[in-house]
Amino acid sequence: MCGIIGYIGDRKACEVIVDGLKRLEYRGYDSVGVVTEENGKLHIRKGAGKIDELKEKLRLNEMPGNRGIGHTRWATHGIPNDINAHPHTDCTGEIAIVHNGIIENYLELKEELIKKGHRFVSDTDTEVIVHLIEEGLKDFKNLENALRYALLKLKGSFALGIIYTKDREHLYLVRNESPLVLGIGNGEMLFASDIPALLPYTNRVIFLDDGEYAVITKNSFVIKDMRTGEIRDKQIQEINWSLEMAEKQGYDHFMLKEIHEQPKAVKEAFYGNVKTIDKVAKEIAKYEKIFIVAMGTSYHAGIAGKYLFQRLAKKVPIVEEASEFRYEAEDLVDENTLVIAITQSGETADTLAAIRLAKKKGAKVLSIVNVVGSMATRISDLVVYTHAGPEIGVAATKTYATQLTVLAMLTAALAKHLGTVEESYLKELENQIHDLPKYVEAALGYENKIKKLAKELKDKRDFFYIGRSISFATALEGALKLKEISYIHAEGLSAGELKHGPLALIEEGVPVVAIAPTGKTYDKIISNIEEAKARKGFIITLGDSEELKEISDVFIKMPKVDELLSPIVYIVPLQLLAYHLAVLRGNDPDKPRNLAKSVTVE
Ligand code: G6P
Repeated sequence: MCGIIGYIGDRKACEVIVDGLKRLEYRGYDSVGVVTEENGKLHIRKGAGKIDELKEKLRLNEMPGNRGIGHTRWATHGIPNDINAHPHTDCTGEIAIVHNGIIENYLELKEELIKKGHRFVSDTDTEVIVHLIEEGLKDFKNLENALRYALLKLKGSFALGIIYTKDREHLYLVRNESPLVLGIGNGEMLFASDIPALLPYTNRVIFLDDGEYAVITKNSFVIKDMRTGEIRDKQIQEINWSLEMAEKQGYDHFMLKEIHEQPKAVKEAFYGNVKTIDKVAKEIAKYEKIFIVAMGTSYHAGIAGKYLFQRLAKKVPIVEEASEFRYEAEDLVDENTLVIAITQSGETADTLAAIRLAKKKGAKVLSIVNVVGSMATRISDLVVYTHAGPEIGVAATKTYATQLTVLAMLTAALAKHLGTVEESYLKELENQIHDLPKYVEAALGYENKIKKLAKELKDKRDFFYIGRSISFATALEGALKLKEISYIHAEGLSAGELKHGPLALIEEGVPVVAIAPTGKTYDKIISNIEEAKARKGFIITLGDSEELKEISDVFIKMPKVDELLSPIVYIVPLQLLAYHLAVLRGNDPDKPRNLAKSVTVE
């Protein structure tokens, strides 16, 4: 989704902005734009394309001024081209604006504004905002009031950055259902869509809430409610992420770095929660009606979570994509319901909408989140952090491993509290949860084998991933990783479904990746593998039992770990396979086409 960065201070604004935009690149974008101001004149350079090429072409690092705003656009309204790229200006060219989100009532606003004589140059919904501010200035004289006039007319989601030539000491920023964070530096202020863009300058931040705007100078800030204009008292938070954590540190890509960080991430997830998880589990124990809601990779963690709840706590949660839940659950959720939301960013629009619906209906909401202070953490009753550190690669890796770790800890604690499984088994499971970093490390040891395999598979068109029980989640997530970054068609299936349709697609050489840890349904998946083998599929198996070797074209021997914890370990070779296939096919795994790290629009 779009990225925003704003700067006011003593530095050359364009340099801070271009650097910040690079750090926001992972959000996904198709166009870039920068506006700076000097001596009461705006300088705007923008175009469709990537930051590196536009930096040279438009000389983005040679723009004058110490205040300015930058934007990466992920097109929603209007194709990606130079005109639709942000910033957009009003008729006078004195106000410039950047926007992340969607203005739902832009057509009617545009019509009204055209009648009043405003001239539009782009196809974007964003442009109406800046003309509305211009309109507001006619009556209200100062920009702050004109801005409020405009904001109160908007319907939809918007994070905004605004600069005005006649207001030389200030920048303005707004948050409503799209993320924006204010960074408080020393004699300088910044704002950005996400924390990594702020880290080179400060780790002191304020998360704006929906319906808030801020007026900043290089030394001060004031945050207000956009509806009432009242000042909001906000807490400054210190982020304990370091700049290095948000940099590649010698790896070719963030995704590879993040895959390799998994042993550490899982360890942090464990130690970050071990003391408090019992308390959360006791709260969960009170509920029989439980929904798990999430999107993308977090949704797959939710599917694994369902099996953990069932097997360990004998509870049956309903797992739903937040995008479905938000329209289906109105009459199903009440004060006796627990909704568990899983979200890395804490900003996914559908997941936030699901949380809000649950809250409205009186349900209790527990969120499992990675980004500290994000919106999900502020609107939930209970929060468990995954402690994975910043994840920059669009395809989630280490945050998935930590979500699963947290879910395993939570359900084991729940089982202990409820006495739903044998004590000796629980003890062994707890030991294995503690040792997870070791198992994940062992799984990383297969990288060379996977690299070789990737060479063999690089021209394949379709992949099938099959798994039973909790390994179904691994099949789904393995397939998603492949689709996202290598652009190869892949399907994740519960292995039992294979012969109900997909088997018709298995022919000679089609890769079938079987996730087969020993466990409850091990014998069953062997039969499914045989079915695929009989159709001459190219069989890749992941498992801890040597006998798999005989029925496989390629066998990846995994460390022996309880089936319920296997998703955390078995996903590692599948992440590596997707990564190496993407690189071999010439794709940038950190920035897959059409995708965004955090989907902040519906
Ligand atoms: C996007 C990302 C995925 C992520 C999903 C949910 O689609 O590309 O990697 O799993 O959003 O994001 P969340 O931040 O809510 O976990």
